[in-house]
Amino acid sequence: MDEEYDCIVLGTGLTECILSGLLSVEGKKVLHIDRNDYYGAECASLNLEQLWGKFRNGQSPPESIGRNRDYNVDLVPKFMMANGEIIRFLTHTDVTRYLEFKQIAGSYVYASGKIYKVPSTEMEAVTSSLFGLFEKRRAKKFFEFVQNYREEDPATHQGLNLDRDTSATVFSKFGLAPASQEFLGHAMALHLDDDYLNQPARETIEKIRLYASSMARYGLSPYLYPLYGLGEMPQGFARLSAIYGGTYMLDKKVDELVYDAEGKVCGVKSGDEVAKTKLVICDPSYAQDKVRKVGSVVRAICLLNHAIPNTSDADSVQIVIPQGQIGRKHDVYIACVSSAHNVCAKDKWLAIVSTIVESDKPEQELESGLKLLGTVQEMFISVSPLEVPTADGTADQVFVSRSYDATSHFETVCEDVHDLYKRITGQPLVLKQRSTQAQEQADMAA
Ligand SMILES: *[C@@H]1O[C@H](CO)[C@@H](O)[C@H](O)[C@H]1NC(C)=O
Repeated sequence: MDEEYDCIVLGTGLTECILSGLLSVEGKKVLHIDRNDYYGAECASLNLEQLWGKFRNGQSPPESIGRNRDYNVDLVPKFMMANGEIIRFLTHTDVTRYLEFKQIAGSYVYASGKIYKVPSTEMEAVTSSLFGLFEKRRAKKFFEFVQNYREEDPATHQGLNLDRDTSATVFSKFGLAPASQEFLGHAMALHLDDDYLNQPARETIEKIRLYASSMARYGLSPYLYPLYGLGEMPQGFARLSAIYGGTYMLDKKVDELVYDAEGKVCGVKSGDEVAKTKLVICDPSYAQDKVRKVGSVVRAICLLNHAIPNTSDADSVQIVIPQGQIGRKHDVYIACVSSAHNVCAKDKWLAIVSTIVESDKPEQELESGLKLLGTVQEMFISVSPLEVPTADGTADQVFVSRSYDATSHFETVCEDVHDLYKRITGQPLVLKQRSTQAQEQADMAA
């Protein structure tokens, strides 16, 4: 440890591992430390012993659950949008070579007490029973607008200005009823609450386009998922960093950050050792004095021995329960994977129900989601703070990431990586697309 590094990274969450991968590739000398004896920090995938160790200290898992090594239980419920930014990170860095993906088999939305499949094409949407008879024409016109919209061609804007007009204004221009607005805003744009209605429409339109184009890519749902669990992703970036000389230390406690006379970070102390560095990147748990809490997420990790009812025995699904359906301010999400993804024993399913905490009884807030699961074999509840840095890090050279939020995908994680990269280097991160076969062959020939 007694060497000097360009950068010390604390915590092996996905955000931190992507950054240490990118900086290592750029030739920076990186030391990466985690206090846990596994990779992934808040977005790790745990085996049974680790899971029981975390939530049921001192007990051991019942034998009926199966073998320890068959399990990779995610701590946060997130999927990858097939056309999302996370895929660009994976292909840009070639970390795809360490991972194998499988499609999530279905995407559902809860309405009037039942769950409905989210239509997989815009045409399917306008013929599905989610839209009433008179609504179909209006929905069709809205989807045509979204699909045909080109920034540079004002004729496709239909008189709307996406940076000025709100989502509510756009919906009302197309005469969309509240039920359709809820579907578009929550099941497709994946907004967690209704604040978006009064904000400029651009973000919502872009999110609906991302959902639709991701859905079009593979057909069943907009999502992909890595075999062996989400923890494979930070590990993939850690391998990349290691190839470029990055050093990894797990199960290593971090006592404090050391600062120079000007208040800039100059080292990390662990026991009697101090590793010297020019800057530190870390997750909020390593810099509790530099973050503030903006809310909490409650999650229930549930082990089932059946598929979620009414999902055609799907091996994996997402279910969105829009807030308006259950008298809440925030949606409740269910993310479910199974042995088909090498994350649990045969004939088992893992479902995570989650939402943003609104009361002092967070567990009860998951009820609407838990009800949809049927019988639950084991359940682990966690309440995690949502923390954000109080400063951009340039003053003391300590750059703190954000907690993993309640969204169902990695888009906000990617935004945080872009944001951190810019703060750290002063330059925007430019991702090249390197995944095309032609490019690969060109690379090999070179
Ligand atoms: C599940 O399917 C049954 C039978 O079709 C139906 O009665 C029930 O309302 C459905 N439940 C949900 C939550 O969709």
